[in-house]
Amino acid sequence: TERTLSIIKPDATKRNLTGKINAKFEEAGLRIVAQKRIKLTKEQAGVFYAVHAERPFYDELCEFMASEPVVVQVLEGDGAIAKNREVMGATNPADAAAGTVRAEFAESVGENSVHGSDAPETAAVEIAYFFSGLELVG
Ligand code: GTP
Ligand code: MG
Repeated sequence: TERTLSIIKPDATKRNLTGKINAKFEEAGLRIVAQKRIKLTKEQAGVFYAVHAERPFYDELCEFMASEPVVVQVLEGDGAIAKNREVMGATNPADAAAGTVRAEFAESVGENSVHGSDAPETAAVEIAYFFSGLELVG
């Protein structure tokens, strides 16, 4: 079994889509083993997305992530990282397969409703950024 860090982004929390997105995760066999709603500062978003610091959209991305509350969560299951990215769909909703979270809910390539870790190493770092071991209830 594997764990991944998921974020339901501001565009989705603002439109009350948390439950609908969680239903897709659970239907895919992903278990929500930790979850909390928080409002990031722009600085906290900047640390989380530091890998994108040189990208032209970095400032816009950090502003967006701090604009409304987010729901950060840890999803667990066999192949959870890949499975979650499959449920999320492509980064740009225009390219996302039918039935994916981004195809159904995302507004644009930037405001794309969800984040999911992309590898075991990044999942470990991202989970530790938001959760202590005591908060992970498998
Ligand atoms: P995450 O799961 O959020 O990491 O998405 P991803 O892995 O599918 O995409 P990537 O890591 O390449 O980019 C991280 C995030 O930056 C995306 O999810 C978008 O929110 C944002 N982003 C990526 N490309 C663009 C862009 O061209 N413009 C804007 N405004 N935001 C972008
Ligand atoms: Mg990414």
